[in-house]
Amino acid sequence: MARYHRRSLILFLILALLALTTSPSQGFLGTENKIKSAVFLSPKLVTSPGSVSNSYFFDMDFPRGHIGLKGFDAELVDEAGKPVPLHETYLHHWNVYPYYARKGSSKLPRQEMFKNHGFSRKDPETSLDSTSDIIIAKNGGLCMSTLIYYFGSASETRHTSSYIPDPYAIEIDNPEERPDGYEFKWHLNVHAIDTRGVEDKRGCLECLCDLYNVTVDEYGRALRPGYKGGLACCYDKTQCRVKSGFDNGEKTRNLYLKYTLRWVDWDNTVLPAKVYVFDVTDSWKRSVGDSQEHNCHVEYEVKPCKSNGDGCIDVKKNSFMMPFSGYIIYGVAHQHVGGIRAALYRENGEGICTSMPKYGNGVEPGNEAGYVVGMTSCYPADPVKVSYGETLSLEVNYSSVVGHTGVMGLFYILVAQQLPEPESSLPYLFQAHAESVSVLAFLAVTVLVAVVVLIAAVVYRRQNREDGYQSLST
Ligand SMILES: *[C@@H]1O[C@H](CO)[C@@H](O)[C@H](O)[C@H]1NC(C)=O
Ligand SMILES: *[C@@H]1O[C@H](CO)[C@@H](O)[C@H](O)[C@H]1NC(C)=O
Repeated sequence: MARYHRRSLILFLILALLALTTSPSQGFLGTENKIKSAVFLSPKLVTSPGSVSNSYFFDMDFPRGHIGLKGFDAELVDEAGKPVPLHETYLHHWNVYPYYARKGSSKLPRQEMFKNHGFSRKDPETSLDSTSDIIIAKNGGLCMSTLIYYFGSASETRHTSSYIPDPYAIEIDNPEERPDGYEFKWHLNVHAIDTRGVEDKRGCLECLCDLYNVTVDEYGRALRPGYKGGLACCYDKTQCRVKSGFDNGEKTRNLYLKYTLRWVDWDNTVLPAKVYVFDVTDSWKRSVGDSQEHNCHVEYEVKPCKSNGDGCIDVKKNSFMMPFSGYIIYGVAHQHVGGIRAALYRENGEGICTSMPKYGNGVEPGNEAGYVVGMTSCYPADPVKVSYGETLSLEVNYSSVVGHTGVMGLFYILVAQQLPEPESSLPYLFQAHAESVSVLAFLAVTVLVAVVVLIAAVVYRRQNREDGYQSLST
């Protein structure tokens, strides 16, 4: 019996040691286990059948300090915290970006300032990006007047990975970059369309102007001739046509964007990655020189095909000059219903990243039939090196079996300025964070190995002695 226990002890110690040295991903040295997460709720969105809520929230709940964001996931939930399916409330989009607010200033940011950004129509009256009280912190590019978000998604948010792999993260609130006397805050925009009881769900989520009975945009300007649908017709407080006789009375409810953040405290083992967003409707042209004036329309219309001869695929292409050098470590597209696929290529046609919509086929939240419930994303095994001035092209395909208004062809990428140090010949355990912990870890493991060997030796000798006695007695 005693012998059995000792053998188990040796086995246990050896297994423990093996586990410690061979599973670095769960080991004590990875950044994995430094990841923190928290779940927050936005202020409420009040919705009723056919209603549109396009809300701008300031000073959102967010982790504070110098951190590295690793992921941002979101979904709409009701008062009880229950996920709301897209066929009840369509999440047209959400996006977040930070801003600096002057300390002690009691002035609330003017909503118009933020409305000029992030999927929305421009207010002709307010073209200012900053006042002395507010400075918006934008992403790396390219559409600096519209698509400036750090994270943004839409109906696909439940099944689209936003995770940023180690050792990268989006650096937030570096104290050296914060202007004196300002604090760092977050802004959130959520656009949701309640389609309970509406006549035409797809028409409402594609923002058909007729269904909204809208002839002027949010700022009272007449719609462009021929404009059939899009954000100019489904702004805040517009109303999509509801079936006659549908009882609207008791159906008002409060919804919330529930968002889950993952982050790490910033340190020198984390490598910064920057966000860039490409828009297939960008009117930038190389002929203009390397000016970085990007006029991004964000939305476009897919006309129905005339025959089946062309395969009924709407193909839209664009190319852009890269304003950065670095390595693409993540990519994901944003498409609406009808989307087939989007891809990013080098000038020579070499593929960099392909992203495809996933469609639901049920009723439950996350699997709503006919809706885009996810987008596949890319995590290139070898980060894709891109050089300043290089041209990349974006191709976005939609089905044109039926027409679509207000569709989008965006491509979001994360770019790291530097890669991790090349791997040395040391075993994995001792490599990753050479500067900070390797010496201590090395000592700790050496001592541990020594102890295990010692115990094993002692036990083995005792056991042999015991075996000897036993053999004598037999
Ligand atoms: C549509 O708008 C017009 C003018 O704004 C208004 O007179 C009409 O009653 C509206 N129709 C519906 C169905 O709401
Ligand atoms: C888009 O469709 C065209 C024509 O069918 C095809 O050649 C191309 O590869 C497609 N692009 C993507 C990104 O799927």
